[in-house]
Amino acid sequence: MDLLHRALLTAVGALSLFYALVKISLGYWKRRGILHEKPKFFWGNIKGVVGGKRHLQDALQVIYAKYKGRAPFVGFFACLKPFVLVLDLELVRHILVTHAGNFTTRGLYSNDGSEPLSGNLLQLDGHKWRALHAQSTGVFTPANINKLLPRIVLISRGVQRSLGKERLQTLNINELVDSYNLDVVASMAFGLSADHTEFRLWTQSYWGKFSLWRAYLALEFPLLAQLLNHKSYAVSAMAYFQKVVLGQLQEQRRRDRQPLQTFLQLYSNMDQPLDDVQIAAQAFGFVLAGLVPLNATLSFCLHELARQPELQDRVRAEIRKTLEQHSGQLTTEGLKELLYTKQVLNETLRLHTPYPFLLRRATKEFELPGSVFVIARGNNVLIPTAAIHRDPAIYEEPLRFDPDRFETEAKRTRPAMSFLPFGDGLRGCIAAQFVEQELLVGLVTLLQYHRYTPCSKTAIPLEYDNGRLLLMPKTGIHLNVERVDN
Ligand code: HEM
Repeated sequence: MDLLHRALLTAVGALSLFYALVKISLGYWKRRGILHEKPKFFWGNIKGVVGGKRHLQDALQVIYAKYKGRAPFVGFFACLKPFVLVLDLELVRHILVTHAGNFTTRGLYSNDGSEPLSGNLLQLDGHKWRALHAQSTGVFTPANINKLLPRIVLISRGVQRSLGKERLQTLNINELVDSYNLDVVASMAFGLSADHTEFRLWTQSYWGKFSLWRAYLALEFPLLAQLLNHKSYAVSAMAYFQKVVLGQLQEQRRRDRQPLQTFLQLYSNMDQPLDDVQIAAQAFGFVLAGLVPLNATLSFCLHELARQPELQDRVRAEIRKTLEQHSGQLTTEGLKELLYTKQVLNETLRLHTPYPFLLRRATKEFELPGSVFVIARGNNVLIPTAAIHRDPAIYEEPLRFDPDRFETEAKRTRPAMSFLPFGDGLRGCIAAQFVEQELLVGLVTLLQYHRYTPCSKTAIPLEYDNGRLLLMPKTGIHLNVERVDN
């Protein structure tokens, strides 16, 4: 047999093997006899998502709308990986709350041995997550969050300075809110003061040369990835973040007692403190889990308020009245009185849910009470929160931005688990209360003396960036910004 023949036979053999493996993988739901969306060869049910033609959220919403009401969950494939897509709010409650013990794992890749900063709460699973979670809940207590408020208020004055004194200007809102959120994270999670230029650069480049395929393989074969020493982030970025935190912790220990101002202090003051590198991993968690959704939420919120001036005026009036009643100071009590502003924030999180889905992996088999449905051990489970938030059976005219949906009475009429921007239960967002406080302070500062209106560059309708898993605007949100002193 000549060389060409052999090469041809090998190629045919390899292709046949590949074809058989794909077919076996995509036959998973059929073999289990579970209702599922018919997969396309290799891409499963996310064709167009990998190439950036549509957002994963769109693909999920289509499947959710097609199957809701027919079963508590439906099977689908992200490429070759089978997923449970949850359709029923009672099942959501079981997974997140009542049977959360069966679903404590998220299944993200972490290798804290060779990449220590991946040992953060978002990425860890199993006993490491459990121990860290138990310690971290002592940091994010309501009392601690309240104590951090004066520092956030101080940082927010930088926004006033960025807005300047001009009567009318056109601004890229993403840049404006990014500078506020970045200052908060740099200062409160990393202990940095003043100049955040270098910090900003690393927050923009820590993914390094991101390879979707390598990330996919790490998710699919984590043990192999660990063996091959796969790293999720740029080594230089991780070295920078770690160096900053270790330096700040040393500095902190040299100084006398300081007023409580940062998460670094909270982490190092715990009864059983984490070691310094573990603290650095939690600081990096703020960048990883927090920066994009914080920026997206404030940008989306101003975009919606610019389109509905009467709502914006109502928020501004509430902010001014509250400040007046608290001698111009933003206090914890004052924040509690910003009821309508909070409704506006919640409506933003509903309509533009930054984390459009929640992930869990079943660590034990789960039989739905009173039914024949079983989620098998090892199944990856996806809760499509953004699709739930846009379900017309739960939210009438779901694409309309209407903060009245979050009035106390209106909220009471909706079922439990129908609003989950921060997830829920054991693995819900640990920082939710801090986030709400930080976003409210941001809105107070942005809206107190400034009015936002659409300009010729404002993208209507708003488009999401299909290249990201989280929901964020595709292009900058440009708005006219007018100073309104009274
Ligand atoms: C608008 C801003 C934010 C939103 C909408 C948000 C939302 C979420 C959501 C949906 C989850 C997954 C919850 C689940 O699976 O049930 C999550 C997890 C998490 N978030 Fe946030 N988040 C925000 C900002 C932040 C910030 C600033 C931090 C800073 C520390 C943070 C820290 C975390 C952590 C550590 C987890 C993982 C918790 C665990 O697995 O135990 N988030 N967040």
